[in-house]
Amino acid sequence: MSVAIVGAGPGDPELITVRGLARLRECEVLVYDRLVAEELLDEAPSDALRIARDDFKQEDVNKLLVMHGRNGRRVVRLKGGDPFVFGRGGEEVLALADAGVPFELVPGVSSIAAVPESVGIPVTHRGVSSSVTAFAANDVEGLDAAALARVPGTLVAFMGGAVVDRLAERLIEHGRPAGTPAAVISCGTTDREQVVTAPLGAIGAAARDLPTPALVVIGDVVAVREALGFADFEALRTVRRSAA
Ligand SMILES: C[S@@+](CC[C@H](N)C(=O)[O-])C[C@H]1O[C@@H](n2cnc3c(N)ncnc32)[C@H](O)[C@@H]1O
Repeated sequence: MSVAIVGAGPGDPELITVRGLARLRECEVLVYDRLVAEELLDEAPSDALRIARDDFKQEDVNKLLVMHGRNGRRVVRLKGGDPFVFGRGGEEVLALADAGVPFELVPGVSSIAAVPESVGIPVTHRGVSSSVTAFAANDVEGLDAAALARVPGTLVAFMGGAVVDRLAERLIEHGRPAGTPAAVISCGTTDREQVVTAPLGAIGAAARDLPTPALVVIGDVVAVREALGFADFEALRTVRRSAA
């Protein structure tokens, strides 16, 4: 395979897959996302050509992949989380397929479940929630808030950290109870991880200053964290981290 589209996982470098790491260790060209852990970039051979994706528009990234793939180089396109979850992996694959360049898809651990899990929130939990609705919240005014307010189960908002106050406001306006448990998790699975939980009506103010990337989780599953004793576990984990 000449171009491997590889999911790097949610942030902790140990959460890449075995296959993803193998592709990375043998690549000649590495095109990587900003969210990818630096430790993973160090896994590529020292003489591999490293290209930061954020310096290019998407169409130019597609062209880069096609160009290096056509030249027969072993290319890794390393993307945060899973390439097909709000990752534009499909666009890159389409460009490669259109150009007749062989590619391989290596799935990654998406933040959709891994980031809530790392702070003790199961996105589904028997008797609490049996469905998950994931959406991109960056265009918060463009969201169908009426539908999102009505949908049962857990809501997971990507790219919503900066607009969580407005998102909460819109959901409440459309009927989600202000007391619904909510959480914002910043830099999940990394040593910069922070989590704030609050009722939906208060989450905007509580999570205002959290750094990106951040994932917003809304629903009764957030309260399961307390039931699992995770708040105490988090305190222990913080102590362990600062001792390390
Ligand atoms: C462009 S999307 C990429 C998602 C990625 N493909 C995945 O599967 O996780 C970026 C958004 O994912 C979420 N995200 C990714 N990694 C995260 C992390 N470690 N902690 C919190 N949120 C994260 C944030 O909402 C962020 O704005």
